[in-house]
Amino acid sequence: MRSLLKSRRAPGTSTVRTGRAACIALILITVTVLVTGCADYGDAEQGMEPNMEKSTEEKMKQSTDARIALPEPEATGGMSIEEALSRRRSVRSYRDEPITLADVSQLLWAAQGRTSSDGFRTAPSAGALYPLEVYLVAGSVDLLSDGVYHYQVEGHALRKINDCDQRRNLSACALDQSQITDAAIDIVFTAVFERTTVKYGDRGVQYVYIEAGHAAQNVYLQAEAINLGVCAIGAFYEDEVSELLALPEDEVPVYILSVGKV
Ligand SMILES: Cc1cc2nc3c(=O)[nH]c(=O)nc-3n(C[C@H](O)[C@H](O)[C@H](O)COP(=O)(O)O)c2cc1C
Repeated sequence: MRSLLKSRRAPGTSTVRTGRAACIALILITVTVLVTGCADYGDAEQGMEPNMEKSTEEKMKQSTDARIALPEPEATGGMSIEEALSRRRSVRSYRDEPITLADVSQLLWAAQGRTSSDGFRTAPSAGALYPLEVYLVAGSVDLLSDGVYHYQVEGHALRKINDCDQRRNLSACALDQSQITDAAIDIVFTAVFERTTVKYGDRGVQYVYIEAGHAAQNVYLQAEAINLGVCAIGAFYEDEVSELLALPEDEVPVYILSVGKV
């Protein structure tokens, strides 16, 4: 599936090949839906949609509209940074209640939101090369259906890539840590190391992990300010998470955060 997605993304691909790849993709989706009951949307930019009644062309068109706008994030709040810092703790048990789409918006903005017209973000980045990508594994969010979403920094939006609650499967990739299943959402940071190593060489690898730490701390503090609990999770199998999220081959999962109501 991943090599198929990759080949469909290659520039200059002919219409015939694109059509053939789309047919194969549709067959694969059908099999996925029949076997798991879940539709893997692949990359929405590549035209993968779950509604099998629609033509491929319709799917291609729909896919460009598949962005879900997030509420505008608040740039001011009620809790001081000192209070958030002094209260912050890793929280592993959560109330069985949904969080809001506004909460999701705030957390993703804290993670990697754009804060300037020049493209700078909430978290620092070596050379402003921004190697991190952010995925939302949603299982209990008001006004948002369960599934896996890719955060679109440009436009502060979500793009759905899978329409099943994957919290339990994600937990299985992480030694069955129960906070991942019990959380309302899990945030998965992935990295395209090449964006940074192309400039900084091997040193860039360290920079990417440092950046994941910056982004995760932003989420911890933001969560504290809106009364949510977070737990950082570094113990997981990269290849299993990559497969679950159907990541492109150049993207590696680096950090997971479980988030829920306290
Ligand atoms: C890189 C990193 C990886 C971590 N991985 C896990 C993990 O897999 N599971 C877990 O329950 N906690 C994990 N934690 C959370 C630590 O256990 C926690 O930060 C530590 O106990 C200190 O507690 P505090 O965060 O409440 O101050 C991780 C923390 C960091 C920084």
